[in-house]
Amino acid sequence: MNQSPEQVVQAQLDAFNAHDVDALCRIYADDACQYQHPATLLARGTAAIRERFANRFAQSQPRARLLRRTVLGDTVIDHEYVFSGTTRVELMGLYEVKDGRIANASFVFGPTVQVRTATFDDLPAMEALIARSGIALSKGFYTDEQAAAVTRHVFGVDTQLLKDGTYFVIERDGTLLACGGWSKRATLFGADRMKADADPLLDPATQPGRIRAFFVDPSVPRQGLGTMLIGHCEAEAAQAGFTALEMAATMPGVPLYRSVGYQSVEEFEIDLPGSVKVPLARMRKAIA
Ligand SMILES: CC(C)(COP(=O)(O)OP(=O)(O)OC[C@H]1O[C@@H](n2cnc3c(N)ncnc32)[C@H](O)[C@@H]1OP(=O)(O)O)[C@@H](O)C(=O)NCCC(=O)NCCS
Repeated sequence: MNQSPEQVVQAQLDAFNAHDVDALCRIYADDACQYQHPATLLARGTAAIRERFANRFAQSQPRARLLRRTVLGDTVIDHEYVFSGTTRVELMGLYEVKDGRIANASFVFGPTVQVRTATFDDLPAMEALIARSGIALSKGFYTDEQAAAVTRHVFGVDTQLLKDGTYFVIERDGTLLACGGWSKRATLFGADRMKADADPLLDPATQPGRIRAFFVDPSVPRQGLGTMLIGHCEAEAAQAGFTALEMAATMPGVPLYRSVGYQSVEEFEIDLPGSVKVPLARMRKAIA
């Protein structure tokens, strides 16, 4: 018995995420068409669809995340984010299923968000985002007093990372949505105002690099932006020869870091002005 339209489209999503071109070609009908909505033909027939997927997977390792699925008879509409390296594209895929295979697929491409290296010109926007993020996204993890103290006294940009080219932003149409970076230097956390001394370089062969100052705008939490940034930082740090990364994670940061494989190696508190104590966790991950 044929699979339901929903099962067919789910199988297509699974095969896409497994980068399995053969499975995708079995799921699409032999004469299937792919369009960019409304009528731009992207591929017709198995050979063209095979070539399109093979090229796509040769260029990057995309991963689609389903946001919402609507099923109406033989038609299935998926709203997705597709993450590939330093970009995330939002799209709608409309699939017509006949006899257990996809007969036609039509895609509407939405906004792209992109990681790029931060510059000194980004500083005002990053500092404003960090202040918003530190207060709003600490809720449920820190008291209001702790969130205010850590945002005021600890959070912010360490401009050494801007000089080193290891701090990044994610933007959409010129609007900053997130920032974060890694460091080849000893400082574990804190903005410029916490630094007094020179910040010595670490030895990648024997010391872990740092993950530093991750912040997502409170209007776009849980959309995979933190994960995108950390993937980019890990790739860059590995390219610089580091085999492990470490950080002082805030409590709101712990679930993100844990979800991408960091483990807590020490829990400690920092004392901030006003006798406010703020718990942090030192976390670590091997990246090679
Ligand atoms: C920590 C922070 C950067 C996470 O960014 P984000 O873009 O929302 O994270 P992601 O969407 O990539 O989350 C990936 C996974 O982490 C976990 N996670 C992230 N935020 C979480 C939360 N508030 N509660 C529970 N789990 C959470 C989930 O497993 C999530 O996957 P899911 O949404 O599919 O369940 C963001 O919450 C933030 O800016 N916090 C305030 C500033 C801060 O404390 N930064 C950390 C400094 S060390």
